[in-house]
Amino acid sequence: MSWKKKWVKYFGTLEEKERFNTIKRASYAHGMIKAALYAREIGVSSISAIEFGVSTGGGLMAMERIARLIEDEYGIKVHVVGYDNGKGLPDPVDYKDHPEIWGKGDFVMFNKDQLLENVKDSEIVFGDVKDTAGEREGWYRSNPIAFISIDVDYYSSTMSCLEALKFHPDCYLPAVSMYFDDISFFTANRWCGELLAIDDFNAANEKRKIDIDRTLPGNRPYQNVGWYRNMYVGHILDHTLRSVEQ
Ligand SMILES: C[S@@+](CC[C@H](N)C(=O)[O-])C[C@H]1O[C@@H](n2cnc3c(N)ncnc32)[C@H](O)[C@@H]1O
Repeated sequence: MSWKKKWVKYFGTLEEKERFNTIKRASYAHGMIKAALYAREIGVSSISAIEFGVSTGGGLMAMERIARLIEDEYGIKVHVVGYDNGKGLPDPVDYKDHPEIWGKGDFVMFNKDQLLENVKDSEIVFGDVKDTAGEREGWYRSNPIAFISIDVDYYSSTMSCLEALKFHPDCYLPAVSMYFDDISFFTANRWCGELLAIDDFNAANEKRKIDIDRTLPGNRPYQNVGWYRNMYVGHILDHTLRSVEQ
């Protein structure tokens, strides 16, 4: 670790710590901090950050920690919401779910009781995402969605998760930071998995689009970091702040 990174890790601001990738789950930290700064810029004080696919909770617990750092530094409240069936992956539907890699029961939440005890400020919505992802519109109207991680491996599950991008425009910031976990392995391609789900979602929705995050790497101190390619942005093109009739 360079002396500068070490210094930033202990004495830097939250933004500096994020830019130097010193925070655990750097991709989540990047998306959540970007979301919080954007919320602050447009006068929103309470936002939601979602993780689809919780498994044993490593990601969710990291999100809780990052949410606390954000609240301390910027005064923005970040509500962390996880979605999982608690039983691991369902049966793959067809080749689009990458059955050459994953199968039923992978990533089961074997520590459910312990995880529920450890979870402090976040919530886990249990059930198949095909039933749960389109719920809670009322909650998100008051606490707009600002960050979404999609880590459910399959095309079929990802398509269900993306129902959460179809609520009323008030349920979002105009642009939602997104992380797609399962797009960078040798058999990944645009005709399967999360990459296909992104293309299909974009083709089916005129005013909601998912695009790569075009701010990365920008002038960040580390230019070639793998997770930069996993960062996307959900564009809410029918958001009031994107309307010319305000
Ligand atoms: C790779 S794991 C998630 C790992 C977690 N994000 C982390 O970083 O620690 C994938 C999770 O997606 C969940 N999942 C996949 N398809 C699902 C579905 N249709 N409904 C609910 N959960 C699903 C599985 O139960 C599994 O726990």
